[in-house]
Amino acid sequence: MQDSRSYVEKHQKRFLNELIDLLKIPSISADSAYKKDVINTADEVAKSLKDAGCDTVEICETDGYPIIYAHKIIDKDLPTILVYGHYDVQPPDPIDLWTSPPFEPVIKSTELHPEGAIFARGACDDKGQMYMHVKAMEFMTQTNQLPCNVKFMIEGEEEVGSVNLATFVKNNQEKLKNDVILISDTGMIAKDVPSITTGLRGLSYVEVEVIGPNRDLHSGLYGGAVANPINVLTKMIASLHDENNHITIPGFYNNVEELSLEERAEMAKAPFSLENYKKALDIEAVYGENGYSTNERNSIRPTLDVNGIWGGYTGEGAKTVIASKAYAKISMRLVPNQDWETITDLFKTHFESIAPKGVKVKVTPHHGGQGYVTPIDSLGYQAASKAYETTFGKKPIPQRSGGSIPIVSLFEEELKSKTILMGFGLDSDAIHSPDEHFGVWNYLKGIETIPYFYKYFTELKK
Ligand code: BES
Ligand code: MN
Ligand code: MN
Repeated sequence: MQDSRSYVEKHQKRFLNELIDLLKIPSISADSAYKKDVINTADEVAKSLKDAGCDTVEICETDGYPIIYAHKIIDKDLPTILVYGHYDVQPPDPIDLWTSPPFEPVIKSTELHPEGAIFARGACDDKGQMYMHVKAMEFMTQTNQLPCNVKFMIEGEEEVGSVNLATFVKNNQEKLKNDVILISDTGMIAKDVPSITTGLRGLSYVEVEVIGPNRDLHSGLYGGAVANPINVLTKMIASLHDENNHITIPGFYNNVEELSLEERAEMAKAPFSLENYKKALDIEAVYGENGYSTNERNSIRPTLDVNGIWGGYTGEGAKTVIASKAYAKISMRLVPNQDWETITDLFKTHFESIAPKGVKVKVTPHHGGQGYVTPIDSLGYQAASKAYETTFGKKPIPQRSGGSIPIVSLFEEELKSKTILMGFGLDSDAIHSPDEHFGVWNYLKGIETIPYFYKYFTELKK
């Protein structure tokens, strides 16, 4: 095979500039003010797939944002790889905390990325990682070495729950038929510690509302005599964890898979420095469920976190008031075998049951999805492992991630194929945060590595 490294070296300037152009479009799926931009991004992605050598490129309309489907079928008897990614991004807020504007990409060097990193919303999650696949495709078609069939499915609603993609997948089983699904939308342990993500957590996301008196009240005239919705809400939330930081919702842990001591020992072998972890976050101590390590807490254990909480007076100065309502947004990260809809019901029943008299409680489920684990003896994993070994000179480590890509479990259910998660981001790349960035080295390394996955998967499948 002609070396992907030399091709990447030769074209790296253009590869960077093309990604920078894509990052300039604010494809924020959560905010309808950006509708035109999201749709324009879909058009740009479609064009880039055509330019990369796909024979068929379709912009598939949905009830929400379009899904780009593209393919190149070279021989029906060869295996087919389905690449998934997303072109939508998270809102950039809080915008003041960005050191450069989120949609004006710039390359700056950082401690971990001395050769430079592209700073922009979506640089790593997921435009940058998705675009690595487009450029890897370009390399394979331009040098006549695409070894198998390839299909692309790039959506614009991942950050808002992939509701329309789920319908699309259910209705297009034949079109999406494949031997393996390949995604770059996760991370790796470190630049010199390549890893393959073998697990994702599930998610249940709910919004709660505590409703007290029918109007805001003077906190002197009424304080102490009626339930204050904010006091009640915070007390209810605090009660959701016990003194060991276990979650108190009855039945919450029912189906949680307990890893064997061997499996946990295996996990603990992955290089990790608690000191560096704390230093990077400026914290004196980590915090979490008793009996588990930091890496276990953020991957194989379920969690419950408040993501936002509001109510009452938050303006300048002081206002003496008992607000009539209080709100919070709560996410629960789940592990494989916990069913997200069951957990959502358990949460709702429990949260309603602990409300004191004097308030009403409303629980509104948002989106959710199942967790995912994939074995390391599959052909896909083996092919990915060999690909990393080729370009990193090291065998990658399997790693369970704490993040969620809910559609992955649906892929397995509906399309009956395994997903391989070849992520090239770092945890420090600040996805979803101000100053999101993606290392130039990581981006180019991804483009270099992906074609080897195609090669080895095709060879192993024979
Ligand atoms: N790419 C992320 C998920 C991710 C990041 C997994 C890093 C593993 C490592 C994805 O875009 C994402 O943000 N997912 C959401 C859930 C979704 C339903 C909004 C998440 O994990 O919060
Ligand atoms: Mn993503
Ligand atoms: Mn994301």
